[in-house]
Amino acid sequence: MRNIDSNTITEAVIAYNSATQSPRVKELLDRLIVYVHSYLRETKPTHAEWRTVIDFLTRSGEITTAERNEFVLLSDVLGVSSLVDMLNSAPGATESSVLGPFHILGAPDLLVGGDLIRDNAGEKVLVSGIVRNRHGAAISDAVLEIWQTAANGLYSNQDLAQSAYNLRASMRTGADGRYAFTTVKPEPYKVPDDGPVGDLLRTTGRTPWRPSHLHMIVAATGYRNVVTELFPSDDPYLDRDAVLGVRNSLVMNYVPRTDAHALPSDIQARDQLAPRFFEVQFDFVLVESATA
Ligand code: BEZ
Ligand code: FE
Repeated sequence: MRNIDSNTITEAVIAYNSATQSPRVKELLDRLIVYVHSYLRETKPTHAEWRTVIDFLTRSGEITTAERNEFVLLSDVLGVSSLVDMLNSAPGATESSVLGPFHILGAPDLLVGGDLIRDNAGEKVLVSGIVRNRHGAAISDAVLEIWQTAANGLYSNQDLAQSAYNLRASMRTGADGRYAFTTVKPEPYKVPDDGPVGDLLRTTGRTPWRPSHLHMIVAATGYRNVVTELFPSDDPYLDRDAVLGVRNSLVMNYVPRTDAHALPSDIQARDQLAPRFFEVQFDFVLVESATA
């Protein structure tokens, strides 16, 4: 094709791609070209500005390793990860939120009522609730994976001073759908800001901080998994989460309590919660998978 100008080049690229076999790949690619070209026609970047963009992507590639993916972080801070989550979430289910890079497989099993506090510093919290279907019925044998930061704001896989699975667990609900565990309050932390995405955050006057949160993946046979996070209502970063993971429905309250003795007997750390602890109650809703 030779007869191209700044308007017809979009259709020219799309025509070049016309042999794409998969209709879905073609749709995703064609629409990307349409939007990127239209962004360029609108903003008219100079060569120097475009080189800055290419340099940003090059540096992102150079800093990316198996443990650190700068492109995932870029997707997170631009709200792209959250938008993809929102577009794929099941109506009626607990809202999803970003997975983040600190999830690891193989967290040890913990019985309902089990303890994650062990030798961790921090304020003690009892977290409990029911996993239900959208009709309100309890789901037995749902598996919750839980992970969070320690008092120093680091996950166990960022910090050699912690044991490999510190503040991580996998818990299976019984017939009543209930889960419960004791832990310490998670702490806020900064997303990695020593690379190009950190430069982007500084250029735009944004904070690299995330509000404190508990990560959870809730799964049950026949239901769609929910990958989500719970955020305390008193966190100072709630309204400026660097990765836009907070949703109103995922904000929970730390309710102060002084009556540890009144807790159910399956709360293993019951005697260590006195004189004062916090309670969080949060129910999860799972929606049947399409094939169920
Ligand atoms: C996290 O919650 O662990 C996380 C999410 C996105 C980027 C960095 C960290
Ligand atoms: Fe996190």
